[in-house]
Amino acid sequence: MTKPDSDAIVIFGITGDLASRKILPALLNLKRRGRLDMPLIGVAREGWTIERLRARILESLGEHGDIPDGADDEDANALAESLRYVAGDYRDGGTFERLREALGDAQAPLHYLAIPPSLFGEVIGHLERTSCSRGARVVVEKPLGRDLESARDLNRNLANSFDESRIFRIDHYLGKEPVQNLLYFRFANSFLEPLWNRVHVASVQFSMTESIGIEGRGRLYEELGAIRDVVQNHLLQVVSLLAMEPPVRYASDSLRDEKVKVLQAIRTLQDADVVRGQYRGYRDEPDTEADSSVETYAAVRIGIDSPRWAGVPFFIRTGKRLAVTATEVMVRFREPAHALFEASASAPNHVRFRLGPDRVSIGLGVQTKEPGEAMRGRASELLMCDEEAGRVGAYERLIGDALRGDPTLFARQDSIEEAWRIVDDVIHRSDGDGRSPLLYDPDGWGPAEADSLVENAGGWHRPGTGC
Ligand code: BG6
Repeated sequence: MTKPDSDAIVIFGITGDLASRKILPALLNLKRRGRLDMPLIGVAREGWTIERLRARILESLGEHGDIPDGADDEDANALAESLRYVAGDYRDGGTFERLREALGDAQAPLHYLAIPPSLFGEVIGHLERTSCSRGARVVVEKPLGRDLESARDLNRNLANSFDESRIFRIDHYLGKEPVQNLLYFRFANSFLEPLWNRVHVASVQFSMTESIGIEGRGRLYEELGAIRDVVQNHLLQVVSLLAMEPPVRYASDSLRDEKVKVLQAIRTLQDADVVRGQYRGYRDEPDTEADSSVETYAAVRIGIDSPRWAGVPFFIRTGKRLAVTATEVMVRFREPAHALFEASASAPNHVRFRLGPDRVSIGLGVQTKEPGEAMRGRASELLMCDEEAGRVGAYERLIGDALRGDPTLFARQDSIEEAWRIVDDVIHRSDGDGRSPLLYDPDGWGPAEADSLVENAGGWHRPGTGC
């Protein structure tokens, strides 16, 4: 049965930061592509007039949207004009009665909960009681719990009113063009599959380094730390795409079934698998504790107990205030079994996927002969670099998919819970004993102690600034 497209979009938290930075700019782009021909309803606490709200939307679009400087943008004005506003408290049933009216004859609204997860339960209950959830889809995004138990509670809560096919959990990494390209490249090229296993691959590294700090998000970050912020979600999702078995077809459940199997095969992390760090100066950031033990850096070793990957170490390294902003995956192959040529400063073959910022690039690391009489090699990289890969932004892509009811690029309940299971012991232990992470200097590569994790795997891969 084909699923109906959504016929209204409701943004809870329309005046909030997420709506301003990500959702509204994505809606503007969808409107430009003729994909938003439906009522847009904003729900926010009382105290705003519709004029003020529209002005705020235009301001957000001016700041974060794709609008040429200073131009009076027709689509942005049309988007702001089309807004219907429902004011009221999320705890008050009356707000949802008014929402029901504002929905008119919409049969399949999409409710985007851009509000703190602590309000999800109440909002979902009211949606159900006022029939606003009938035929509807719901979009939620992280933090989807703060550990395995709370994630299960949240999932149970959502499942009370929406069946899984109507729940869209956004992980914006899955909407990124270069992340989809990783999946495409793996399965559209026949030369890779025979090599993509423990026989040929020596190690795999996932590196998400950022030169920015916490950017005024002290209060939120104190509750998170790097493992909850990006390892449990974005990075483990990318690990599962890189490591999964070929899905039977490119369809939501085939793909998501294979992804979750990878997560199921990953051992629960132990303390010895993790090095936590905190940049010097973090505790002076606004809204952080003077003795904070929150990590802004994590290096993690992962083992996947599957026939394909048994014995191959996978590593994740992520951190704030590091030397370079880049997200890369580095797959290193084993050395040739027999060294035909004299030893040189060579590196093993690799496949390098650059996932961000803003462009797709894939590098194949090979050995070529250094010019001259000697049969000596040098490391080179065959590079594909697409500067235009960011054309459709992650939120635009994902909201468009949710409106069409296509869940392929959304995280399913079982994969969210498996990812929490992997990090659960480690985060509980560091929450519990308040152990301080290792301090590191800004603009470097994090604590030197993390080097020991990769000493038998050729050291950490350091992404550059270019392709
Ligand atoms: C967010 C994290 O989910 O992802 C941020 O909360 C992080 O801490 C951001 O900076 C990185 O996303 P991107 O798309 O810029 O790589």
